[in-house]
Amino acid sequence: MITQADLERSLDHAVHSVDFQGRLTRHHSGKVRDIFVVDDHRLVFVTSDRISVFDRVVGTVPFKGQVLSGISNWWMERVADLLPHHLLSVPHASCVIAKRCRPLPVEVIVRGYLTGNSSTSIWTAYANGLRTYCGHHLPEGLTRHQLLPEPLVTPTTKGDVGAHDELISREEIVAQGLVPADLYDRISEVAVALYRRGAEQAARSGLLLADTKYEFGLDEKGVLTLIDEIHTPDSSRYWFAADYEARVAAGQEPRGLDKDYVRNYMKSQGFTGDGEPPALPAGIRMEAARRYIELYELLTGAGFVPDFSRPEEAVLARLD
Ligand SMILES: Nc1ncnc2c1ncn2[C@@H]1O[C@H](COP(=O)(O)OP(=O)(O)OP(=O)(O)O)[C@@H](O)[C@H]1O
Ligand SMILES: [Mg+2]
Repeated sequence: MITQADLERSLDHAVHSVDFQGRLTRHHSGKVRDIFVVDDHRLVFVTSDRISVFDRVVGTVPFKGQVLSGISNWWMERVADLLPHHLLSVPHASCVIAKRCRPLPVEVIVRGYLTGNSSTSIWTAYANGLRTYCGHHLPEGLTRHQLLPEPLVTPTTKGDVGAHDELISREEIVAQGLVPADLYDRISEVAVALYRRGAEQAARSGLLLADTKYEFGLDEKGVLTLIDEIHTPDSSRYWFAADYEARVAAGQEPRGLDKDYVRNYMKSQGFTGDGEPPALPAGIRMEAARRYIELYELLTGAGFVPDFSRPEEAVLARLD
């Protein structure tokens, strides 16, 4: 549980970016995470409190980095019997030190439900009459947001910075030499196993794991390894199970746990991705933080312990 006083205090502590004062080399910065090189074998992942909606960073939500990092770490432990993961240690609530791997050039999306709004989503394709999606045949008569007969693996290519990821099929991945056939089949199989584990575990918290994205890499010995993040609200779509059926039957969207709250605020201010985003007011940032923390506690069953310290010192201390 987070107190109102902690939330108010947190507003000035949100982490937009980190500064290692040249002691670590920046490897990559995404919209939310900053990745630094320790050496040939290790990377540091800092999950900042930045929040992106409509593909744009619109501000910070206090503790979001701690929630996302904590959720991913929690899940890594819970899937470790399915395949090795990259996590080495956790120097700070929002940071991990990870094994540096060679990332495979595809993102592996697993979809349990016929949903999504974007131009590349499975529902958009289905609504437009397509009955083949990423090489999978889809039967007639399916309805929006419904459970798919089987979870589907729908890979995308990894676009360069700024480029959008594109849908691709197993056949194209193999033909283009992105991933060899036998390795693709392994990641596809393990992705479904990860998704099933995720959906099963989420159900215990009254949540549906509608879809999610995995990334895989090969470690220095060539061992297939789960990398990046897993089952966070940034990489996954979670719905509340309790009112899912009633809402879908009434023609509404399932109640989501992702960035809907901030997205809706931005929309109400007339921002849908173009131009300068309006500032996020303190009240919206605190309520968004409260919701992220609620998800953390619902999922993990553990109380959220806010950490007001900066990540830099803790990370550098662990590397000495
Ligand atoms: N253990 C690892 N070893 C090497 N690279 C990794 C490892 N884990 C993740 N990566 C890579 O780190 C990068 C993480 O990038 P990140 O997700 O922060 O930003 P992005 O994908 O460029 O943009 P976005 O913010 O839209 O997600 C990915 O390219 C991923 O493949
Ligand atoms: Mg990414």
